Amino acid sequence: MNDVFRASSVSGLNRREFLTAAAAASAGLMMTRPGWAQEQAGSADKVDELRIAFIGPGSQGRNLLTQCLKIPGIRFAAICDIWPYHQEYAANILKKYDQIVKVYADYQELLAHEKDLDAAIIATPDWVHAEQTVACMKAGLHVYCEKEMANTLEGCRQMVQAARDTGKLLQIGHQRRSNPRYWHALKMIKNDRILGRVTHVNGQWNRSRRFDLGWPEGRELDDASLKKYGYDTMDRFRNWRWYKQYSGGPMADLGSHQIDVFNWFLEAPPTAVQASGGLDNYDDREWYDNVLALYEYKVGGKKVRGFYQVLNTTSHGGFFETFMGDEGSLVISEDTRRGFIFREQEAKRREWEDEASMVETMGRDAIELKIGETLRPDGTKDPEGQRLLEESQKPPHQLHMENFFNAIRHGTPLSCPPEVAYETAVSVLRANDAVEAGCRVEFKPEEFKV
Ligand SMILES: NC(=O)c1ccc[n+]([C@@H]2O[C@H](COP(=O)([O-])OP(=O)(O)OC[C@H]3O[C@@H](n4cnc5c(N)ncnc54)[C@H](O)[C@@H]3O)[C@@H](O)[C@H]2O)c1
Repeated sequence: MNDVFRASSVSGLNRREFLTAAAAASAGLMMTRPGWAQEQAGSADKVDELRIAFIGPGSQGRNLLTQCLKIPGIRFAAICDIWPYHQEYAANILKKYDQIVKVYADYQELLAHEKDLDAAIIATPDWVHAEQTVACMKAGLHVYCEKEMANTLEGCRQMVQAARDTGKLLQIGHQRRSNPRYWHALKMIKNDRILGRVTHVNGQWNRSRRFDLGWPEGRELDDASLKKYGYDTMDRFRNWRWYKQYSGGPMADLGSHQIDVFNWFLEAPPTAVQASGGLDNYDDREWYDNVLALYEYKVGGKKVRGFYQVLNTTSHGGFFETFMGDEGSLVISEDTRRGFIFREQEAKRREWEDEASMVETMGRDAIELKIGETLRPDGTKDPEGQRLLEESQKPPHQLHMENFFNAIRHGTPLSCPPEVAYETAVSVLRANDAVEAGCRVEFKPEEFKV
């Protein structure tokens, strides 16, 4: 036990009362939480098989594909990629798992020929998300589409509208929304009020200098195919993130994950943003390589200001989100090594701090953000906490896809339905407008609605 906690005052509740209160509060939040793997109908041999098409098994696609292979009852029927090199790569992975798939270059051909599909997973570059997602839903498929939803707000709106018109499920790939660590942090902030009133938020994604993504010699996509699918050169095809035609830039690529967490935890989209950014460090690209944005929120009638930065020249400090309140702060990241709670010295001390793991970080003593530690009034470990702990060992994308499959099978809520992702898309794509215009952009509440 460190001195900060030894010296501070104790909460009015005794330990048993506190844990009972926390469990009750937590139960309230659990009611609204989306389905994870536990809703999968019992054991692997009992779940309904879902037949899936995978569109765009590139770098992230292969990550999703291999995680899907760990989920019971998922059968890939077809894959689609315009690049034969990636088609072969993905088909070979699936073959190892005894999943023999039909292979297509064009998603329209896939939809024309495959008539027995339940869902599609889309991990193509952002600029084709809207077209492909809308077509898949119109063909009767539920869709899991990677973030950013689309690189234009018009594209995002079409996706929301198509989900409504078709009644199909659309999950957008902001996977933190299915991450038990984030849900646990939210519970502590919202129900247990460990931060008091949140006054500021802060987040960043700094990554080191990106070298061009190349391609294996002799495996170039032929010129006719490049042209047919809208890419002028192999460089633009491989490094699509850096071009305005294909991507929403680093605010959409990286920032969207974290601004999504701001919006989620603050339970509101921003009211304004101002931002500075530019293409300051690379000569041969289009998108800004760094953006520093100031967001404003209104929470409980009070202003909450947030700072966000995304840099592409240094990995200093890595990536995380911080919530700062008048009683404490919480730092969280998808990187599980980073999850800390700092209590303001004069703030109410919780009795459970006696049991918490303490670490020294950033020159301060901190409580490690851990799940599965909650005790029941009789002192035994809460089984719900234990289950969350087990779930949290899975890769975050797997949890988000399980949430999607559970929604299809059992009607449990999606963690990131299109209306939610749309709010995030507005929040980040309009920050690009703020950079461009060099002025403060004010949001009207109706901007976040479709
Ligand atoms: N959720 C996350 O953590 C996360 C992480 C990384 C990337 N992503 C998202 O995943 C998506 C893919 O990113 P990536 O890094 O894997 O890019 P990538 O370039 O490695 O993969 C894209 C794939 O799509 C294929 N493709 C391109 N245009 C196509 C088309 N019209 N039809 C069919 N296939 C086409 C490419 O050949 C490639 O195989 C992006 O939307 C990105 O934002 C999400």
